[in-house]
Order: sequence, then structure tokens, then C-alpha cells
Amino acid sequence: MKKILILGVNGFIGSTLTDKIMATTDWEVYGMDMDSDKLEKSKGHERFHFVEGDITINKEWIEYHIKKCDVILPLVAIATPSVYVSDPLRVFELDFEANLEIVRQCVKYKKRVLFPSTSEVYGMSQDETFNEETSQLVLGPINKQRWIYSCSKQMLDRVIYAYGDKEGLDYTLFRPFNWIGPRLDRVDSQKEGSSRALTLFISNILHHGEIKLVNGGDQRRSFTYIDDGIEALMKIIENKEGCATRRIFNIGNPKNDYSIKEFVNMLLTKFKEYPDYKAIAEATKITVVDGQQHYGKSYEDAGFRVPSVENAKKYLGWEPTTSMDEALKKTLDYYLIEQKEPATVQAA
Ligand code: UGA
Repeated sequence: MKKILILGVNGFIGSTLTDKIMATTDWEVYGMDMDSDKLEKSKGHERFHFVEGDITINKEWIEYHIKKCDVILPLVAIATPSVYVSDPLRVFELDFEANLEIVRQCVKYKKRVLFPSTSEVYGMSQDETFNEETSQLVLGPINKQRWIYSCSKQMLDRVIYAYGDKEGLDYTLFRPFNWIGPRLDRVDSQKEGSSRALTLFISNILHHGEIKLVNGGDQRRSFTYIDDGIEALMKIIENKEGCATRRIFNIGNPKNDYSIKEFVNMLLTKFKEYPDYKAIAEATKITVVDGQQHYGKSYEDAGFRVPSVENAKKYLGWEPTTSMDEALKKTLDYYLIEQKEPATVQAA
């Protein structure tokens, strides 16, 4: 039986992973987060031990549990591009500094650490598909503060890799490529600033009747359904015959490579299949905004990013299976049927 420590357990990845572990294994999860609203399914389970706390404050609890557990997932991070531009130092302090302390304790107590790197580390790499071992990591100049997230994550990737090389740290770096699904972010109007594209678009349809395509929406992303991502993480935690030890894995879906414009159109088409929301989807306007005017002058963007998943296939025996259509349906079922998120705009 494994003991797993998840910091940021109430996040999109942490909460979905915890539900999966409770439902399909005999593992124990010790989790910390500042909130627990996404943990309804697992809360109260005898193998799930939750404590409300902040990783920058509750350091004793964390050190004690790193000693006690077998596998550590430090999932706390700011992961929304608008904040990279508006509050870059907070991104550095949390995503890099706070997580470095945790990584060092994993080295000290010889614990296995599974660190969430990111598709963003590849930046504006020109490779058709991004490869963990051969792709160049290409970032813009320092005044383009958007890259502070990518750079913070990349530096920790390099530190973890070096600890593996020099001190035998047992680690896996996994790189989510635009994971989407239920519980990604809240879609009520108050939380908009801290939301990623899909949930922001859902919120825009429900509350504003307008979707803004940044720089025309020709930039592309490979969208990955959360259950596929969690399947890969389960294999990484299992780590049969050390297959994931000291390896880096892109966890993405190369078949779901769409421009943001195409993505918005697919979302609106799907929305119209829900009778209560058909009229507002039909009335939603699509406008084009300039990236630097929208996010701030230190914004810059990646034009495309498609993962190679050959390593994940070879070492984990994992491949994503969920199409874009299915991913959007499952996500909208959650927000529009299960949560019944009310629309606050009136269709014309
Ligand atoms: C994201 C975030 O950095 C992280 O969540 C994560 O590490 C990584 O990528 C990932 O999930 O793989 P990005 O894809 O740029 O970065 O973030 P989104 O906010 O989801 O935006 C996707 C695209 O939609 C961007 O090109 C953005 O300019 C565009 N967008 C966003 C719009 O056209 N309109 C909007 O209103 C919002």
C-alpha cells in the first residue's frame, strides 16, 4: 500500500487524481490545500487525510508528511497566463521558491517526487512536435514577463534533474499539455481573472455574451482530457519496474491540436446541444483583441504546441484516447447539467 502526499490536493489535477486513487486502489492520500470544495467525493473516505493549510506557512506539517509518505506530488502553482503578466514575482515565489524547499526535502528524506513541469517550458520552440530530450526550449526577452512561469518551471526541472544525476533523487517530471475537463476552474463571474481558456470561454458565454479571440485565435493548442492525463499519472505513481524513474513525459493529446478559433467554434456548437443554453450560445459574439492590450504589454504567446507522446507510449504504455468532441461534452455535462451554472445574460 502506497502513501501519497499531494500538496494542492483541491486543484483540478489533485482533486481528480485523489478521486481516482480512492476509487481504484488501496493507497492512502495525505493532502493539503487552502480549500476543499472540489473534494466532495473523497472527503470522509478512510484513506483520505485532508488538512486545510498553505504550503508557504504550514512547513512542519509538510516536512513530517514528506518523511511519512512514499511519493510526493507538489502540485501548488499559479498556472494562469494573466497572472504571469500581472504578478510575476508571486509566480516566482510560489512556483519556484516554495516548491524548491519541498524538492530539497524529498532529496533529504530520499523520497520519490513527481513534479508538474509544463508544456510551457517549450515556449516558442519551432519543432513540429515537442520532444522531451531533443526540443529546444525557446523563451522571449526578459521584458516579456509571460515567460516567468515557463522559466521558473524549467529551472526546477533542471534542479530536479541535477539532484537525480548527482544525488540519486527518484523523480518523474510530467508535462501537462492544456488539460481540460470538469473542475478545471470555476465559471462564475467572480473568478474570471484566474481562469484558463476553456473555462473562461464558458464563463464568457454564460455571463457576457462575448468571446474575445486574442490575436485572432490562430494560435494552436493540443487539448488533453483530464481522465487521460490522470491515467498517465496513475502509471507514473505505480512505476512498475521503475519505468518512470528519472524520466520526463509529455502528457498531451497530439490528435486534439486545434487553433483557438476552431476550439471556440467547437465549443459554441457543443453548447447549442443543451436546450437551456442554445439561445445564449447562438447570441454569443466573437470579437478579436490584441494580446498586449488584453493581457498587458509583457504578454507574448506560443503559436503552436504539439506533444510527442512516444516516451509515454514506450515507457508507460500510455496513450490518450479522448477526442475533442467527447472532452467538450463531458466538460459541458459537468458545468451545465451537474452544476447547472445559471446564465446571467439574456439571449437577444
Ligand atoms: C497554459 C497555462 O500556462 C497553464 O495552464 C499550463 O501550464 C499550460 O498552458 C498548459 O495547460 O499546457 P495557455 O495555453 O496560453 O497556457 O493558456 P490559456 O489561458 O488556456 O490560453 C490558451 C490560448 O487562448 C492562448 O493563446 C490565449 O491567448 C487564448 N485566449 C485566452 C483567447 O484567445 N481569449 C481569451 O479570452 C483567453
